[in-house]
Amino acid sequence: MKQATLRAAVLISGTGSNLKALIDAVDAGDLDLNIVRVVSNREDAAGINHATAAAIPVSVISHAAFPDRQTHDAAVVKTLKRERAELIVLAGYMRILSEDFTGEYCGRMINLHPSLLPLHKGLDTYNRVLQAGDRETGASIHFVTAGLDSGPVISQIKIPILPGDDAASLSARLGPLEHQLLVATVELFCSRKVHYHQGKVFHQGHVMEQPLLLNHDDRYF
Ligand code: GRF
Repeated sequence: MKQATLRAAVLISGTGSNLKALIDAVDAGDLDLNIVRVVSNREDAAGINHATAAAIPVSVISHAAFPDRQTHDAAVVKTLKRERAELIVLAGYMRILSEDFTGEYCGRMINLHPSLLPLHKGLDTYNRVLQAGDRETGASIHFVTAGLDSGPVISQIKIPILPGDDAASLSARLGPLEHQLLVATVELFCSRKVHYHQGKVFHQGHVMEQPLLLNHDDRYF
């Protein structure tokens, strides 16, 4: 029997190219996902246009309109609950989340980060990768827990660092691979192949010792 289509909400703050990648994968029939709502904390986020063009409902919940992080997060959580979202995808959502928020969606919220976590958590990632003299970098998708970019890592994609690379060239090379990684990882949730339990990631019923590594040529794990 076919599984029910997963209900997901996508949270953005900016360009929304990763949101667009998810929308395109759904449209192409590659992802059995129902994006029930997009939430942006910025009314000028360009990614809102991708949602609107795809007729996905959007909530702009500006953090500036709330006295503190807790009340803003509570408004976001209320919206997500109203939509009965089963998976929350942070796709360029540039907010640190309160423990109330991460606790509410423990094991049901994922974030995309442009480094090979646990290396280089936080902002200005590409420059810190370059300053560290790393020979490779990549992107990671992890379950969101209370610590910034610290939850258990589900999946990664890697690229070599080339002579002459700067933040712009890394971003340009990694961007399309991030899209590929996000779609492939969300598919794992759509097909109920991964889950979180007590701080660990399980893949097809087995605890994962290493993140799943996506090859550049592969669409899915
Ligand atoms: C991505 O590079 C992602 O790694 C980081 O924020 C960026 C979002 O880009 N978390 P976009 O808004 O999806 O285009």
